[in-house]
Amino acid sequence: MGLVVHPEPLLSERTTLGLGGRALAEAVASDRADLDELGAFFERHGGRPFVLGRGSNVLARDNGLDLVLVRAADTTGPERIGQDQDRVLVKVGAGAALPGLLGWLRRAGLSGLEGLAGVPGSVGGAVAMNAGAYGQDLSQVLSRVRLWTPDRGLFWRPAADCAMGYRQFDPLAGPGPWLVWEVELSLAPGEPEAVAQAMRRALDNKRRTQPLDAKSAGCVFKNPAGRSAGRLLDEAGFKGRRLGDMAFSELHANFLVNLGKGTAAQALELLDQARAEILKRHGIDLETEVILL
Ligand code: EPU
Repeated sequence: MGLVVHPEPLLSERTTLGLGGRALAEAVASDRADLDELGAFFERHGGRPFVLGRGSNVLARDNGLDLVLVRAADTTGPERIGQDQDRVLVKVGAGAALPGLLGWLRRAGLSGLEGLAGVPGSVGGAVAMNAGAYGQDLSQVLSRVRLWTPDRGLFWRPAADCAMGYRQFDPLAGPGPWLVWEVELSLAPGEPEAVAQAMRRALDNKRRTQPLDAKSAGCVFKNPAGRSAGRLLDEAGFKGRRLGDMAFSELHANFLVNLGKGTAAQALELLDQARAEILKRHGIDLETEVILL
């Protein structure tokens, strides 16, 4: 259908935090032929390429964003493609919504990602961040990932050849940008009712402890080894701490929420305050989990 290009897209309309100024341009790719046009798109607009999914783990600055955005459209829903010993293989496009994939897995009775119920974002973003919750993450079910790079085009990469850790994914595909185009997951066959129950449990737990309906980007800091950043921030008095329309959630101190007209400047100032306080109290330099643009 041809690469769809949006000039000067607003990051505040493309991120769940609702923050961020205009990038240089955005390209949305729907099929393989569109990917062939990406090289020319980068050359035409300049700037730093950034692959954006559904913007649920991004804190974008208010202005001066020297970025060109690339997005995979939501065109290829999940599909059962075969069996590998006692596992079921499922293929899904990177632009699909993670909650949509989880709904499909629930109906199919396929187990492995139940803990991620309530996690927003795209499938590609979930792989690129190795999203996780309640002891499960994408690395445990990823079998192969189909990447696109400007130099190599499209190619499959086995998960075993990628480096994946806590909220970390690196396809070890060389320097330069890469885009997740498609993923192949290996899931355990189960009972739809058992899968549904486990998802309900995870979602109930999250609803009790996380501001799921607020404008947020999930946890802003990674948990330091053996500790919970949320608990450290709570103990240091950050729960509910507000600057303008940005605040640390009253429900979970590691969630930054936009109460309406928040700005990235306010968000960054709150992050600085939190980082400085935890460094002073514990000698721990908190690392951001959200991607700062
Ligand atoms: N806690 C507090 N106060 C708070 C927040 C937490 O005292 O404000 C305490 C809780 O009571 C609990 C402990 O800290 O005893 C851990 O809290 P929780 O179970 O909420 O887990 P977490 O470590 O804060 C992590 C992930 C979440 C994931 C949950 C559930 C990170 C940074 N966060 O949170 O992931 O949903 O576990 O598995 O790894 C995300 O990555 O964006 C995210 C939300």
